[in-house]
Amino acid sequence: MTLDLFADDTRTGSREFLGEGAVVLRQFASPHVDAVFSALHDIEAHAPFRHMVTPGGFRMSVAMTNCGEYGWVSDRRGYRYDANDPLTAHRWPALPEVFLTLARTAAEAAGFPEFIPDACLVNRYGPGTRLSLHQDKNERDFAAPIVSVSLGLPAVFLFGGPQRADKCLRVPLAHGDVVVWGGPVRLHFHGVMPLKAGEHPRTGETRINLTFRKAG
Ligand code: SIN
Ligand code: FE2
Repeated sequence: MTLDLFADDTRTGSREFLGEGAVVLRQFASPHVDAVFSALHDIEAHAPFRHMVTPGGFRMSVAMTNCGEYGWVSDRRGYRYDANDPLTAHRWPALPEVFLTLARTAAEAAGFPEFIPDACLVNRYGPGTRLSLHQDKNERDFAAPIVSVSLGLPAVFLFGGPQRADKCLRVPLAHGDVVVWGGPVRLHFHGVMPLKAGEHPRTGETRINLTFRKAG
């Protein structure tokens, strides 16, 4: 069965505020998805998805790759941004034009003008895959927001507070939705609930998430 929770599109163009500095832009990425998937295809060919290892030695269940000047990596030495893909020893693929445009216009719509990301982490979730609560804090510049684009299967995004134990909002995200957070909530904890199994016409049994950052 195809999960089509938000197919009636009544949410298209709507905004839901998660607090000061954080907003869901429903279906903001929809006009760009064809170009995004075509760019992703090229990125994957040069920098394949892989399961990184946490500093504690655990294999991450989310499969990841990157594009941009910097890529987020994790291994036994820690979390960091690296200009080279450790798998190939080459630079990460460049940020495609459609990614830059999508990130910039979404940030602008959320009240963060002139956002020019230099890093895009691509996460792929399979059935049951979750992303535990964390802060995005390896970036050098916290003045820039995070722009997060959801593709494929729907997921429940958790958006918490400055402390790990703070209560989280549960935000259902569908294919094409974009979340932007920055300013006072830039370092808030967030995560993703275990992905419910399903089938999406664009991504099969997976959800793909792009997060744009200014890392360097
Ligand atoms: C992330 O926090 O890096 C990804 C969030 C998401 O997959 O929605
Ligand atoms: Fe994150």
